Amino acid sequence: MSRSRARRSVFAVPGSSEKMIGKALEFQVDQVFLDLEDAVAPDAKGIARELISSAVQKKFKAPTVSVRINSLDSQWFTEDVEMLKSGVARWIDSIIVPKVHRESDVVEVGRLLTQIESAAGREQGSITIDAQIESALGLVNCEKIAQAPRITSLNFGPADFMADIGASAEEVTSNEYALMRTLVAARAAGVAAIDGPTLEVRDISKFEKSADISSAMGFDGKWVLHPDQIAACHRIFTPTQVRFDEAAMLLEAYEYFTSQSGGAKGAAIYKSAMIDEASRKMALAVFSRGEAAGLVQSRHFSPGD
Ligand code: GLV
Ligand code: MG
Repeated sequence: MSRSRARRSVFAVPGSSEKMIGKALEFQVDQVFLDLEDAVAPDAKGIARELISSAVQKKFKAPTVSVRINSLDSQWFTEDVEMLKSGVARWIDSIIVPKVHRESDVVEVGRLLTQIESAAGREQGSITIDAQIESALGLVNCEKIAQAPRITSLNFGPADFMADIGASAEEVTSNEYALMRTLVAARAAGVAAIDGPTLEVRDISKFEKSADISSAMGFDGKWVLHPDQIAACHRIFTPTQVRFDEAAMLLEAYEYFTSQSGGAKGAAIYKSAMIDEASRKMALAVFSRGEAAGLVQSRHFSPGD
């Protein structure tokens, strides 16, 4: 079984803040991204590009380092691409593309990345794209966006999405339809599904409530805006040891029951419930997530159980 990478936490760092970039080097999160988009004021885009150009050459504790560029229809997009060409592309793992409305948006970014990779002497396709779904148009096209080349995740953007549909953030506290549609599109394409930020960084219970919902739905992880949110994020998006062991034992039990020595059964009774191929898939989802997060199986199935 190949081990997938954990995608529980995606830490957003304003590219114009030298102080935050310095702190972010140490964050033990699954992904860090240096932002050029909404966390950077229009007048600070230039300085942010300079800071990012030197920051990407440093060693981050996070295994995945990304840059969020400005959207294709913004006045900053061309200069962001120039920054990637001028060397930044040598050092990063992925580009986060905000406000993706159509498949053609990410196809266009992918085409530019092909040129950029050639110039940087990188393997074709090695810079991946994380697409943000944060508009009504993006949501109705998210199935196609998820299937585009280089996409490894869909990231739901609640703030822009609420603004785009005209929702009142105070009254509407959950976006379950949009989350579910994004999740299904991601799963159908075999890519990760990541929930976006919770802006109330001083109130950890708001983060936990939102993460509990997206985690229960099946999301892989969530954006993190403040160091205080990291522990809650990892706790909520990592299966507990008990759940991980139960999933691992169900996989072992299923393997046994479907084997000749276990009776070659397609469906069997295990711990007083029926298990079949669908149960195996559900257990595998929990197992893979726990394994990616570094959990180790501590209990095993035995035929007498
Ligand atoms: C993130 O980009 C959001 O708009 O919520
Ligand atoms: Mg946004």
